[in-house]
Amino acid sequence: MENQKGIIIAIDGHSSCGKSTMAKALAKRIGYTYIDTGAMYRAVTYYCISQNLIRNGRIDTESLQKKLPGLNISFITSEDGNQRTCLNSTDIEDQIRSMEVSAMVSPIAALPFVRSELVEKQRAMGNSKCIVMDGRDIGTTVFPNAELKIFVTASAEVRATRRYLEMKEKGGKIAYQDILDNVKERDRIDSTREVSPLRKADDAIILDNGNMTRDEQNGWLYKEYLKALERNGQ
Ligand code: DC
Repeated sequence: MENQKGIIIAIDGHSSCGKSTMAKALAKRIGYTYIDTGAMYRAVTYYCISQNLIRNGRIDTESLQKKLPGLNISFITSEDGNQRTCLNSTDIEDQIRSMEVSAMVSPIAALPFVRSELVEKQRAMGNSKCIVMDGRDIGTTVFPNAELKIFVTASAEVRATRRYLEMKEKGGKIAYQDILDNVKERDRIDSTREVSPLRKADDAIILDNGNMTRDEQNGWLYKEYLKALERNGQ
């Protein structure tokens, strides 16, 4: 283990602040595996919706708890090089980005049995190091010993504007105010849930990217990666 090369990079922070774009770009540049843990919580949420396990906002936790261990969440790389999420071998990438899933994902991600199941899967994925994992609790719970921890943030308005433009580009018709409300509500639920609430790990480096271009963020992160390698004698 001591001679194992490569490090674990944990990127946590608020929703819609560009964590995954940064994490993906870094993973590509340094040849690491990228894991989007939010997509895993979204996949479970999509499963609940598609199996009618959410009725009038109430989650049928008993059925979900029984089915969860049998769900196979995996990632494939599409021809254009993008990562796509699969549930039991079916590509559900487009479905998990819908507003319907976004609206229900925080309460699903707050369920303790969902978190313990997914955290276990995430730890298994990081066994071989050389990973960039993004989420909310990677530096605090999944990999508290990660060699590099980043906590990304920006104001709710900046994040809602980014998501609005992203959805508009994809042809979606959704009001900015609805997106802003969703961003704020998810912040509230993610930060106040009992199990693994969203919080900065004591040893995480904060990045407020509200006024940074993508290139600036990518350059900043790459430098932090080089520093982390040096700290770890690699
Ligand atoms: O990163 P995202 O917006 O796709 O994440 C979707 C939701 O999943 C988000 O509301 C919080 C939750 N999540 C979590 O609780 N823990 C993680 N490690 C990743 C995401």
